[in-house]
Amino acid sequence: MTAPRKLFIKTYGCQMNVYDSERMAEALGASGYVPTDTAADADMILLNTCHIREKAAEKVYSELGRLKPLKDGNPDLKIGIAGCVAQAEGAEIMRRAPVVDLVVGPQTYHRLPAMEAAARAGERPVDTDFPDEDKFEHLPKGPRAVRGVSAFLTVQEGCDKFCAFCVVPYTRGAEVSRPAERILREARDLVERGVREVTLLGQNVNGYHGEGLDGRDWSLARLVRELAEIDGLWRIRYTTSHPNDMSDDLIAAHGDLDKLMPYLHLPVQSGSDKILKAMNRKHTAAEYLEILDRLREVRPDLALSGDFIVGFPGEGEAEFEATMELVRKAGYHSAFSFKYSARPGTPAAERPVLPDAVLDVRLHELQALITEQQRAAQQAMVGREVQVLFEKPGRMPGQMVGKSDYLHAVHATGEGIAPGQLRRVRITESATNSLAAVLL
Ligand code: 5AD
Ligand code: SF4
Repeated sequence: MTAPRKLFIKTYGCQMNVYDSERMAEALGASGYVPTDTAADADMILLNTCHIREKAAEKVYSELGRLKPLKDGNPDLKIGIAGCVAQAEGAEIMRRAPVVDLVVGPQTYHRLPAMEAAARAGERPVDTDFPDEDKFEHLPKGPRAVRGVSAFLTVQEGCDKFCAFCVVPYTRGAEVSRPAERILREARDLVERGVREVTLLGQNVNGYHGEGLDGRDWSLARLVRELAEIDGLWRIRYTTSHPNDMSDDLIAAHGDLDKLMPYLHLPVQSGSDKILKAMNRKHTAAEYLEILDRLREVRPDLALSGDFIVGFPGEGEAEFEATMELVRKAGYHSAFSFKYSARPGTPAAERPVLPDAVLDVRLHELQALITEQQRAAQQAMVGREVQVLFEKPGRMPGQMVGKSDYLHAVHATGEGIAPGQLRRVRITESATNSLAAVLL
C-alpha cells in the first residue's frame, strides 16, 4: 500500500475562506489526501487566497517564490491557487507563475479531485466558472472528520450591494442562498460530531433568503429560529451583516432566542453621510445608530463589532471626525479598521486617492479610540458571571480556553474542566486579548 498523499492548505482572509479550506481538504480527502501542517512535507500545497485589500495578488506571487525551492526539490509536489485571487486573476496566474499547477475559484472547488488528477497527468487546469450546480451538494464525501466544538457553516455567498470600494461582488459573484433544508442537515451533522456552536457565514449573511422547508422564502431570522430547535446545538452566531438587511424579525430574534448570541459584527465603514453616499452604502450614520438602538432595546448587553475604512476618496477632516463621532456614539466591543486601498475594477478605483501619510494618521487615531473602547468593554467584564464554551487546552498546565457569549477569549483552570463544556464562570482579570476566569 502506498502512503497517503499529504495536503497543506494556507488560508488567507475571512472566515468563509477557513470554511472553504475545510471543504477543499474533505474533497481531496476523497482522492486519498490527508492534511499536514508542514508545507515541506506536502504533496500538494493550496493557497486559499483573499483579494479584499491591497497587494493581494503580489503577496501570492511572493509566497509562490518562497515555495519554488520545495517544488525544485520534489517534482511530484503540486501547487494550486484557490480563493478570490484565483477568481480575479485566473489564467494570468499560470502565465506569471510556472510553479502553479492548478487555479480554482471559490465556486468550483468541488471539481478539485478531477483537477488534481489532471494536474498529475501534466495539465495545468484553470476553473473560475460560476456554475449552476451547488458546489456543496457536489463535494465528494470524504471520511467524517472529528470537529471542534465550534464550526462555521456557509449559508449564503456573494454580494449584490456593490459598495464602491469592494471586490466581493466581482470575486464571489451575485448573492446566492443555500436552501434551508441543506443547512439544517449540515448543522445536525455537525452536532452529531460534537459541534455545539455554529457561526453562519455569508458575505451578506443577513441578506439570506433561501428556500424554506415549507417551500417559501425564508429570512435569516426564520432560519435561525429553526436552527435553534436542534437539540445539542447551544449557540448560534452569524457574520457578516449589512445594516440595510437588519430586518425587524432579525432584531426581534436577538431579543427572544437565547441561543442567538449577544454579539454582532455590523460594519458601517464610515460615520459621514457624504462618504457613505460616495461608498454606495445606501444608509446614513443616523440610520445605523437607530438600528443599534433597536437592537439594544431587545438585547441591552449586545457586544458590537464593526469595520471601518479611513481615507476613502473625498474624506476630509470633517468626514473623518464624523467617523470618530460615530464610534463614540455606537460604542464598540471590538472593531477592525483599514486604510482605503483602491481595488482594480471597483468604481472607487477611478477616484483620486489621499496621501498615504494622511491615511496613516487617521488610522492611528481611529485605532486608538477603538482600542480604548475595547479595553473599557473588557474591563467592565471583570467581576461578571458569564457562560463560556470551552474549546481547547490553554498554554498553562490544567488551563482551558473558550469563548464567552460575547466572543471574548476566556481562560480558566479547574476540576474536571474539558473541551465541549459550557460552564458558568466569574471573570477575574482582563488582559490585552483575553479574560481570566474562575469556574462557578
Ligand atoms: N480598502 C480598504 N478596506 C476594504 N474593505 C473592503 N474593501 C476594502 C478596500 N478596498 C474592508 C471593509 C470590509 C472589510 C471586510 O474589509 O471594511 O467590511
Ligand atoms: Fe463588499 Fe460587504 Fe459592501 Fe458587499 S456589503 S460590497 S461584501 S463591503
